[in-house]
Amino acid sequence: MNNELDMNRIPQHIAIIMDGNGRWAMERGKERTVGHQAGVEAVRKITSECVRLGVKYLTLYTFSTENWNRPADEVSALMGLVLTSLEDEIFQKNNVRFRVIGDMRRLPENVYRKLRETEEHTANNTAMTMVVALSYSSRWEIVNAMQEIMQRRDMGESSYMDWKYIDEQMISKHLQTRFMPDPDLLIRTGGELRISNYLLWQIAYSELYFCDTYWPDFDEAELHKAIASFQSRQRRFGKTEAQVESEAASQNDKR
Ligand code: IPE
Ligand code: IPE
Ligand code: MG
Repeated sequence: MNNELDMNRIPQHIAIIMDGNGRWAMERGKERTVGHQAGVEAVRKITSECVRLGVKYLTLYTFSTENWNRPADEVSALMGLVLTSLEDEIFQKNNVRFRVIGDMRRLPENVYRKLRETEEHTANNTAMTMVVALSYSSRWEIVNAMQEIMQRRDMGESSYMDWKYIDEQMISKHLQTRFMPDPDLLIRTGGELRISNYLLWQIAYSELYFCDTYWPDFDEAELHKAIASFQSRQRRFGKTEAQVESEAASQNDKR
């Protein structure tokens, strides 16, 4: 099943914008929420497959700050789905640690409690960390980080007193994603070519992959296609092709 993949170059962190649930359902003459339910099934499949491939972090855009503006019944159906899918044994079965990022203060109390509980119950799982971005937007996250930095300064913490201390590392340290590396690969399903306020700081050098497949139809084979595309690219981080090749050759010599 892995025939086209180089198992030595599996992305360590995959982030996904899971889009297209609503259209998937409408095309079948069903309610949009049926699409969200089908989307949970795709999350299960992709989670197991990522664990099997050796991915270490999977970050799923589940509900954006802007999604609070959807009709109230869709928002409450989505919150209900979050609750029920967390009942799942997917985490224990796959040895997956669960974490959540986003503006938790806006979530209903029972959803908030369940999320924290799941984080606690899975804290010792080690195969992969699944991060759910919920009530999340990147601009909110960056504003929040700036506020935290200013608070530390107001409290007189020495490493926050001089503006020169503000560097990329300090900003990263105050983002919600502080516990993980930046995504290697960002996938968006559902055909739209945009980022929709997701991980703007963190995807500075991620490889981007867009596909038309609606999220409920995104399966193991689709994931393999995305990873194969990632593996076919040379990540240069601003250097030249020749530099990257000679660095790779000297790494191989050291092995
Ligand atoms: C993504 O699917 C899931 C959420 C945003 C919660 P959509 O609900 O955006 O589906 P489309 O884009 O309308 O098809
Ligand atoms: C982005 O999808 C958010 C999630 C997948 C959770 P949207 O469907 O809300 O994005 P836009 O509004 O079409 O950009
Ligand atoms: Mg959408």
